[in-house]
Amino acid sequence: MRIIVTKSYEEMSKMAARIFAGQLYVKPASVLGLATGSTPLGLYKELIALYQSSRLDFSEAVSFNLDEYIGLKREDVQSYHYFMKENLFSKVNIRPENIYIPRGDAPDIQRECQLYDSLIAQKGGIDLQVLGIGRNAHIGFNEPDDKFEVKTHKVCLKEETIKANARFFANPAAVPHYAISMGIKTIMQAKKILLLANGKAKAEAIYETVCGGVCPSVPASILQLHCDVDIILDEAAASLLPNDLCKFN
Ligand code: F6R
Repeated sequence: MRIIVTKSYEEMSKMAARIFAGQLYVKPASVLGLATGSTPLGLYKELIALYQSSRLDFSEAVSFNLDEYIGLKREDVQSYHYFMKENLFSKVNIRPENIYIPRGDAPDIQRECQLYDSLIAQKGGIDLQVLGIGRNAHIGFNEPDDKFEVKTHKVCLKEETIKANARFFANPAAVPHYAISMGIKTIMQAKKILLLANGKAKAEAIYETVCGGVCPSVPASILQLHCDVDIILDEAAASLLPNDLCKFN
């Protein structure tokens, strides 16, 4: 694991954008694994700016999102389909046919999960996976559990995740309780992983992820076993880490 501590959310986002852009320069037809939530918004802004100044090209890229709420239609403003369209896809030149997000309104969720895994495999697996992290150290919507869920699956969201995500909903009671999430194996099979975290609220999850044992009650701890992970943090998210583990930028 390479842990890079930056001074601010903006610096974290800029550094993540440099790594992301590097991936697309080296391999324009990269398969990108993408996240939603507040953490990657700064990264997506940077990527849009790079695209607008003709320094980034998504025309050959393929993307797979980590997760989607079950029960929401693609056009629902709270769906992750909508989030991605608003915050990235409609502002860069990725081809609509190259965008994959699990369908939360699929009639057969189990089949949707199987289909998602086979599509990822068919495209050659993920080259670069962007991850945020939950306060309970979830990645994707892989919640703390007594085992690591391997494949794309239906998740019953934990109370703390529902509460944390209520900030995105006009009516907090409307947060779905179920989601589809890429599994841990699919995430771990990504060739490179970029985990971003900012703010004090993530400090404990980051500490457990990096310094604790590998166990499914801290889902992100599995990343200790991946051979190419960059964790980019702001100072607040890194505040519980020993200095000698970090590279300060
Ligand atoms: C979202 C996702 C989640 C978020 C995590 C952090 O696609 O997979 O794991 O990355 O819940 O969310 P924020 O960034 O809103 O704190």
